[in-house]
Amino acid sequence: MMNKTLTQTTTGRRDFMQKSALAGAGMLLMPSGSLFGARSANNRLNIALIGSWGRASQHYSALKGENIAVICDVNKENLAKAQKEFPNATPYEDWRKALDHPGLDAVLCCTTDHTHAFVANWAMNRDLHVYVEKPIAITAHEARVLRKTYLTKKGKLATQVGTQRHAFPNFSRVRDMIRDGVIGNLKEVQTWGMHARRANSYFPAAGSAPSHLNWDLWLGPSPEHPFNPAYFELGDRAGLGCQSWNKYWDFSMGYAGDWGSHTFDLAWNAIDAQLPISVSSKSSEDPHSDVTPEDVHLSFIMPANEWRDKVRVSWVQTKEAVKSPREWMDLDKLKHGALFKGDQGFIIADFKTRTVIPFGRNADMSYYQPRSRDAVAPDIGNFQHEWINACKNGKPEQTSCNFEYGASMIETLCTGLASFRSGQSFDYDAASGIASNAVANQFLTKPYRKGWTLNG
Ligand SMILES: NC(=O)c1ccc[n+]([C@@H]2O[C@H](COP(=O)([O-])OP(=O)(O)OC[C@H]3O[C@@H](n4cnc5c(N)ncnc54)[C@H](O)[C@@H]3O)[C@@H](O)[C@H]2O)c1
Repeated sequence: MMNKTLTQTTTGRRDFMQKSALAGAGMLLMPSGSLFGARSANNRLNIALIGSWGRASQHYSALKGENIAVICDVNKENLAKAQKEFPNATPYEDWRKALDHPGLDAVLCCTTDHTHAFVANWAMNRDLHVYVEKPIAITAHEARVLRKTYLTKKGKLATQVGTQRHAFPNFSRVRDMIRDGVIGNLKEVQTWGMHARRANSYFPAAGSAPSHLNWDLWLGPSPEHPFNPAYFELGDRAGLGCQSWNKYWDFSMGYAGDWGSHTFDLAWNAIDAQLPISVSSKSSEDPHSDVTPEDVHLSFIMPANEWRDKVRVSWVQTKEAVKSPREWMDLDKLKHGALFKGDQGFIIADFKTRTVIPFGRNADMSYYQPRSRDAVAPDIGNFQHEWINACKNGKPEQTSCNFEYGASMIETLCTGLASFRSGQSFDYDAASGIASNAVANQFLTKPYRKGWTLNG
């Protein structure tokens, strides 16, 4: 199966990447006021930056060529930091109002995980292009809502999930090598991360929130919880603040959505994955009502596609090294990685490098037919610019992690967490999003506070 000449899927993707590179090199200018282009002068996008500091500050330089029309933050001190950077932007505290600011083209969302699906879906409902930080959603249901909305707008809106490591050329090279048969027929894939941490339970009440923080808006759609400053312990370290709140089910999906978003992407991209047909999990921990696990092994059977058989794919978050295929290779040193097993060899990859280990008497690699240089997809380049270009160039579907791709990947990880939380393995009906186990189904969605809707 693996040694077939390149199929349509690969060719389509290659065309797309080559066209993307062309678009990046000489961006197509769209008439002002066009749904696909930028509305402001000089073809600059009018962008609302929602969640304006923390991880957002790491997007400032990529946004410099655009018009940041709106900044929105529930924390006045963080808003003030963003105001220094974008003094002409209109400030907002409530993202629901910010999205209705006149003349917007696009939204970049760097809020807490539990608000991503809300901001992104409301933005698409207003025909705004969206870049949302990972994880795109925290339940399978939220991911399905986003994918559905996106598909109704496909060809009109540019979307990107903030898994920027995807732009490392290694992602494409691993994919190319597997497709060109370097390990023979694909048999199994394992991905892992070794930095997961566990919290104890939601923090108890600790007085009122400081006057600069709107705790009620921070909670947003989450069920009610009392304020405690411990949720903001790392809040003054840009891009690390999430580590203080992302181990609680009401605010996040834990490490699977954090580093899993990046590392599972190595596999998802390489194998043309689709929603699983069955899901299972194992862990040394009992599931906890409040907090996400530290140690868990989520396992999915992915359906066969046109170039490979059905395959088991797993996400492992663990303190201990995953088992190495060769004992002289210590995978303890590889804190985030992917292991692809074929019938002729292994690929072990991290975000930037890969190693091929052929095995067996017949693994002479004569079956491997690497593509020619001109069949290699060009580099994605700057990941944020890929989205900005797609907002403007009339080819909005040409981002590498659009909401069809990103939502399906997160939906899959969420089904794995539902297996862990329910203690059940199940078959999964991708068409309906229903698990064959009633308890597991409860964990494919979550309750929201009264007055909050995903579809605003
Ligand atoms: N792609 C990556 O490599 C990467 C790296 C770090 C963080 N992240 C993601 O970025 C997001 C933010 O992480 P962080 O570490 O900056 O968190 P943080 O809590 O430190 O910062 C979030 C910012 O958004 C604001 N905010 C929170 N809720 C809001 C709301 N409802 N409306 C408006 N503003 C709101 C906060 O006040 C703060 O300024 C998370 O989803 C995280 O997973 C991605």
